[in-house]
Amino acid sequence: MFTLIPEDIEAYCESHSTQPDSVLQELYRETNLKTVRPRMISGHSQGLFLEMISRLIRPKRVLELGTFTAYTTICLAKGLDKNGRIYTIEENPELSPIITKYLKKEKISSKTKLLIGNALTLIPSLHEYWDIIYIDADKINYLNYYKMLLPLLNNNGIILVDNVLWGGKISKEIKHSDKDTKAISAFNEYVQNDKGVRNLLLPLRDGMMMIQKIHQ
Ligand SMILES: C[S@@+](CC[C@H](N)C(=O)[O-])C[C@H]1O[C@@H](n2cnc3c(N)ncnc32)[C@H](O)[C@@H]1O
Repeated sequence: MFTLIPEDIEAYCESHSTQPDSVLQELYRETNLKTVRPRMISGHSQGLFLEMISRLIRPKRVLELGTFTAYTTICLAKGLDKNGRIYTIEENPELSPIITKYLKKEKISSKTKLLIGNALTLIPSLHEYWDIIYIDADKINYLNYYKMLLPLLNNNGIILVDNVLWGGKISKEIKHSDKDTKAISAFNEYVQNDKGVRNLLLPLRDGMMMIQKIHQ
């Protein structure tokens, strides 16, 4: 797991927070053993943060971009309304077996719609309004996702966007060739200048942008 917080502080925070359930612990282990880039998993603090936001909102519809092995899918699903559903989009079909295995173990298969494909092309086919949107897919399209999805956010909903500090590169001089950092920087600036939203950049793990619509 990647974090900008010093390791000892991160460990202290995690040991003073509610522990993940046994299915999440097993998923975390299996992700580290069997996937090529295990550091993409969000893990304990971030998962619990998303779970708590979801439990506060009690969403009917959640959209996640970037499932990976479904750690955060499971965390977000824990707060769903009784009739709520989470849609999660992942472009890598090789991850399907581990995703479906753990959705089943966590007993949330019926509440989860896993869509395999490119988020940019799948989003327009969904025809839903969302209470929580969690963006954790390709950084290059962060601004595209924001522009597509903000109009589809319900009034009391929230958009959460991961990795907005991008390993600390965001506050340093950005190399011309560094497309991802440039894209995240453009996204952060755009949101900061968007008068229609209230936003908080939280230094959680690799940086989490929280965005709400401001109602007139
Ligand atoms: C950082 S990981 C997601 C981590 C996951 N949310 C978690 O916390 O465990 C990013 C995932 O997004 C997927 N991805 C990248 N670009 C995508 C796209 N355009 N559409 C759908 N998924 C994409 C990658 O295959 C990868 O599994």
